[in-house]
Amino acid sequence: MSENKNLNVNFWKVYLWALSFFRVQIKFVLGLVFCGLIATAVEMLLPKYLQLFIDTIYPDKNMELFIISFIILPILIILMFYAKTLINRFHNIIGEQSSSSLQYASLNHLYELGLEYYENNTIGETFDLFNTSIKELQKLYRELVPEIIKQTIILFVCLLIMFQMSLILTCTIVASCFLYFLTGPFFEKRASVIVKEAAKKLTELNQGVFNGISAIPDVLIYSRVKWSISKILNQHVLYSKYGMKRTLWLYLRGAVRRGSIAIGSLGVFYIGAILVRSDSMSVGEFVSYTTYSYIVVRAFTEVITCMTEQKILIAQAEKLYIFHQRRPQLREPSAQKNLYSFRGDINVKNVKFGYNGNEVLKDISFCIPSGKTVALVGESGGGKTTVSKLIGRLYDSFGGSICLDEVNINEIPRDELLENMGFVFQDTYLFGKTIMENIRFGKPNASDEEVYEAAKSAHAHEFIKELSEGYNTLVGERGIKLSGGQKQRIAIARMFIKNPKIIILDEATSALDNNSEKEVQAAMISLLKGRTTLVIAHRLSTIIHADKIIVLQAGRIIEEGSYEELINNNGAFLMLLNGGVY
Ligand SMILES: Nc1ncnc2c1ncn2[C@@H]1O[C@H](COP(=O)(O)OP(=O)(O)OP(=O)(O)O)[C@@H](O)[C@H]1O
Ligand SMILES: [Mg+2]
Repeated sequence: MSENKNLNVNFWKVYLWALSFFRVQIKFVLGLVFCGLIATAVEMLLPKYLQLFIDTIYPDKNMELFIISFIILPILIILMFYAKTLINRFHNIIGEQSSSSLQYASLNHLYELGLEYYENNTIGETFDLFNTSIKELQKLYRELVPEIIKQTIILFVCLLIMFQMSLILTCTIVASCFLYFLTGPFFEKRASVIVKEAAKKLTELNQGVFNGISAIPDVLIYSRVKWSISKILNQHVLYSKYGMKRTLWLYLRGAVRRGSIAIGSLGVFYIGAILVRSDSMSVGEFVSYTTYSYIVVRAFTEVITCMTEQKILIAQAEKLYIFHQRRPQLREPSAQKNLYSFRGDINVKNVKFGYNGNEVLKDISFCIPSGKTVALVGESGGGKTTVSKLIGRLYDSFGGSICLDEVNINEIPRDELLENMGFVFQDTYLFGKTIMENIRFGKPNASDEEVYEAAKSAHAHEFIKELSEGYNTLVGERGIKLSGGQKQRIAIARMFIKNPKIIILDEATSALDNNSEKEVQAAMISLLKGRTTLVIAHRLSTIIHADKIIVLQAGRIIEEGSYEELINNNGAFLMLLNGGVY
C-alpha cells in the first residue's frame, strides 16, 4: 500500500492516463474533424454574405445576386444542419466508447486487485470511486474533449479570416484574450484547490450515507437514529461550506474571463469606428468582422471553459488514477500448468503468512488426500480462515508451498484453480435477487432443471417451494429475508451446481436450531461425498465425520489425528471440547 501513497501524481501523468481510454476508432475522430470543418466553413460564409448584402446587394439593388443568394443560402444552411447532426452523432459515439472502456478497465482492475483490496478498503469508498470519480471523468470523453476539438476548429478558421480582414482589430481581440491569461490562472488554481477539497468532502458524505444505509438494522436496534442523522448532516454542512466556496471561485474565474473579453470588444468597436470613418473599412466589412469576433470570442470562451473544467476533472480523478496504479499482489503465472487429470489431493508444506507485517501462520504443513475430509479446529483468530484463503490463492503465502496433486497453485491459472474449488464462507453472500438467480450463480448457464436438482440435493427444495413465489422469491439485500439455515442451504445448492472437486467450507459460527442443523448437516454430508474437503469446523457433528482433525493455535498446528486419537491424546483438542467451544 505504501507504494501507492508515495506516488508523485502530477497533472500531465493523470491527463495522459485519462486520455489513454480514448480508444475510439480513428474514423469517428476523422468524421468529427471533417464535419466540423464543413459546418465551420458554412458558418464562416454567413457573415461574408452579410458583408456582401450591406456593401453591394442593398446599395446597388442587385436583384441577380439577391436571387442567387436566396437559392444558395438555404442549401448552405441545410448542409450545416446535416454536418452538425453528424458531429453530434460522432461526438456521442466517441464519448460512449471511451466511457465504457474506462468503466470496463476499472471494474476489471478491481477484480484483479482481489480480496486484498476488498479487505483493506471500505465498500463506501470503492462505491464512491465508481459512482462519482468514474462518472466525473467520463465527462472528459462525453463533453470536454469533443467540444474542445469542435471549438478549436472554429477558433482557428475564424481567426484566419479575421487576420485577413483586419490585422489591427484581430490583434486587439487576441490581446484581450491574452489579458485573461494574466489573472485567469490565479483564479483557476484557487478554484481547482477548492474543487478538490469539495470532492473530498463529497466522498466523505457519500460514504456516510452509504454506511448509514448499510447499518439500518443496528442503528434501529441501538436507537441511534438521531446520532446517525446528525453525523451525516455534519458531513453535509462541511460539504456545503466547500461547495459554496467552489461556486464563488468558479464565478470569479468566469468574471475575469468575461471582463477581459468585454475590454477586447470595446477596443474593437472603438478602433473599428475609426477605421470606418477613415474609409479603411466598409460598413459591411465592419458588421461582418464584428460577427466573426463574436464567434471567435464564443469559441475562445468555450475552449477555455472546457480546458479549466478539464483541469478540475483531472484533479478530481487523482484518486481513480492512484487506484489504477495499484498493482495486484497476485500475478497470473507466466508458465502455466493445467489441471487436466486432476485427482484432487491438497498438499500444504511449511506455509507462512501474515497481514500487513503481522505474522498469522507460522509453519503450517498438512495434506488432504483426494476425496477425504480434514477438519480445522481451534480458537478464534488462530488463522483457520486464513489457511482457506491461501489454498484458494486469494492471497499468496510468504513461504512454503501449496500444491494440488503435484502442481504448485502459483503455476495454475487463477480461473482454472477457482473453477475446481468451491468455497462456502462463514457468512454466505447472497445477492438481493431471486433464489433461482442465487443458485445459478454457481453455474451461470445452468438450466432451471439443474437448479431444482441442486436445491433438492441441498435439502432446500422443500422450503423454497413453500415460499410465496417459490424459486422467484426475492431474498432481500444479502439474503436478509432468509433464515441462517436457509441461507446456508442455498449456498450448498450453489456448490452442488458448480460441482467442484475440492470444497473449502468455513462453517458459520452461529448455532442453528435443531431442525435446521439436521437439514444443513444432511445437505453437507451429501455435498462432501467423494470430494476433497477442508472444513473449518464449528460443529461437533462435522468434526466427528472428518477423516482427520487438525488443531490450530496462534498460527501453528499443535495437534492432529482422528477424533478417537485426539480424545485419547488428552491434549488441546479435548480442552477445546471440555471448554465448550464445540
Ligand atoms: N484482511 C485482514 N487484514 C489484517 N488482519 C487480518 C485479516 N484477516 C484476518 N486477520 C487477522 O488474522 C488473524 C487470523 O484470522 P482468521 O480469520 O484466519 O482467524 P480464524 O481462525 O478463522 O478465526 P474465527 O474462528 O474467529 O473465524 C486474526 O488475528 C485476524 O485479526
Ligand atoms: Mg474464521
